[in-house]
Amino acid sequence: MKKIMGLLLTTLLVMSLFVGCGSKEKDAEPTGGNDSNQSSSEKDQGNNGDNSADKPKVGVTIYKFDDNFMTYTRNAMTSAAEGNAELVMNDSQNNQSVQNDQVDVMINKGVKALVINLVDPGAAPTIADKAKAADIPLIFVNKEYPEGTDKIDYDKVWYVGTQSKESGDIQGKLVAEAWKAHPEWDRNGDGVMQYVMLMGEPGHPDAEARTKYSVEYIKNEGIKVEELEKQTGMWDATKGKELMTTWLGKEGDKIEMVLCNNDGMALGVVEALKADGYFSDGKYMPVVGVDAIPEALDLIQQDIMLGTVLNDPLNQGRVSIEMAINSAAGKDVLDGLDFSLDETKAVRIPYQPITKDNLDLAKKAYGME
Ligand code: GAL
Ligand code: CA
Repeated sequence: MKKIMGLLLTTLLVMSLFVGCGSKEKDAEPTGGNDSNQSSSEKDQGNNGDNSADKPKVGVTIYKFDDNFMTYTRNAMTSAAEGNAELVMNDSQNNQSVQNDQVDVMINKGVKALVINLVDPGAAPTIADKAKAADIPLIFVNKEYPEGTDKIDYDKVWYVGTQSKESGDIQGKLVAEAWKAHPEWDRNGDGVMQYVMLMGEPGHPDAEARTKYSVEYIKNEGIKVEELEKQTGMWDATKGKELMTTWLGKEGDKIEMVLCNNDGMALGVVEALKADGYFSDGKYMPVVGVDAIPEALDLIQQDIMLGTVLNDPLNQGRVSIEMAINSAAGKDVLDGLDFSLDETKAVRIPYQPITKDNLDLAKKAYGME
């Protein structure tokens, strides 16, 4: 009996192995090493085959999956592709050479268009050369080639993102108005705003512009400022918390304002402030970010964060996928879209100031209502 059962089990095991192999071959998706890959409409594979003509395979890379804001953008891409395209989604793990390999693999697999969220903004021409050699349209999203997409030597390349400077201006305006309305925030009464600045990735056009133009706007409003601390927190909540904890230890209550290049870092800052007794018993610190992610909206609702700047993930995700589908079909890249290209071949999705008065606007942009 034992022997028979053993034989039966072995046979089953061998059979399941064969089945496994077969389906693996059929569903094989490009992999760039140990990256994550997912296909949004595998159910169409293996039909009578002619469905794939209507649903082009679009290759996507995200600079890293583990990024608050890009996760919302990525989900918007997946929704936009539903029924319209088959997405091959890659996590580039914050490594440009991993991303380059992923692009090679996707091209070899026959994707009809590429949607690339770069790791290193300077790598845009390298990726464009690959797309050009294969004659595949290329849409960069969220991280812009600093010299301008129009400077890349390829006719089928475009960019979808924002006008980075706008987010700095809006954040600066929000801070300047609130500072003027709250003379008590100038704790040492010296008529100067002592602030700390948490920056995103160095070299990222959004990070550079937000750092520069927020402060420039505040100064142009006639407010005197003093920068106590400025460092990169790499868009990351944990790093934001670490930096703020260190600065609180060093500067103590000299700090009167916290400017963050994004909400992710602001969330970390708020944790550090809470651990230091802020946001209870009337102890307050104004903190601003950018993105308007749901966690930040919550903090604004609770009068903890002062405000943020909406960076619209639904539109950035949706427009990038629709442009990919259009260009893959040889149509005008903006066919059916309510957006236009600027002189640098970029679609600019507008930013919006967000405070407690207009949280609904941001909730909509994040698909929360
Ligand atoms: C910015 C966003 C950041 C981060 C970054 C990634 O636009 O504000 O939170 O997601 O993109 O490139
Ligand atoms: Ca002061």
